[in-house]
Amino acid sequence: MSMSVQEAIRARRTIKDYRPDPVPRQLIDAVLEAAAWAPNHHLTQPWRFIILEGVARLPLAELRRALKRRELQEKGLPADQIEAEAAESGAKLLRAPVLIVVACQQVGDEIRREEDYSATAAAIQNLLLAATELGLGTFWTSGPIAVAPETNALFGLDPSDRIVGIIHLGFPAESPSGGRRPPPPTRWIEPREVPKLIDRIDRLVAGTRP
Ligand SMILES: Cc1cc2nc3c(=O)[nH]c(=O)nc-3n(C[C@H](O)[C@H](O)[C@H](O)COP(=O)(O)O)c2cc1C
Repeated sequence: MSMSVQEAIRARRTIKDYRPDPVPRQLIDAVLEAAAWAPNHHLTQPWRFIILEGVARLPLAELRRALKRRELQEKGLPADQIEAEAAESGAKLLRAPVLIVVACQQVGDEIRREEDYSATAAAIQNLLLAATELGLGTFWTSGPIAVAPETNALFGLDPSDRIVGIIHLGFPAESPSGGRRPPPPTRWIEPREVPKLIDRIDRLVAGTRP
């Protein structure tokens, strides 16, 4: 299947139901290669991908279950309710045959860390669009499991690495519909505003309020 970028952007939708079929290795390699073409300042390539396929998903699902259990225990819920909710939470990570944990290295000053985080998000979007073109479904998740220090520790990531997404990947078993709400307003700077804006600069740079 060949798709224009415009078509892939619109065809990519969050897929939550997947066929159990494994994803051929060359398709996984292809989406990772597309991810690596994302813009990244100073070519830091800050992203790190961890592929969890089949049984390799189980430790992450089990960690999610354990974290949910701990959270609910702290709330003092009844034991059977805790177990049911914790099991459901863990099972949610087993919907697709492949999970890709996308981590971002966070080194250097604040600007570099921000840029690297943004570049990693761009890499994820590349990955999702490439997957769409290849007929694969994706689901970008984050949430508590992505920010839990235990997740970094489980996979031997540095404590400062940030997990930007846990991407579900597989052949879709659903075709989601539904579009987008009208976008928030766009501001165009009008030519007539330009002199006033330029006039502000000296005061801004001097640190006085305009
Ligand atoms: C950073 C990020 C985290 C997300 N985390 C979740 C999540 O934890 N659970 C969920 O149901 N959807 C999650 N989503 C998916 C969005 O809810 C989804 O993209 C949105 O509803 C639009 O639907 P679409 O992807 O089909 O266009 C996440 C998306 C992003 C970008």
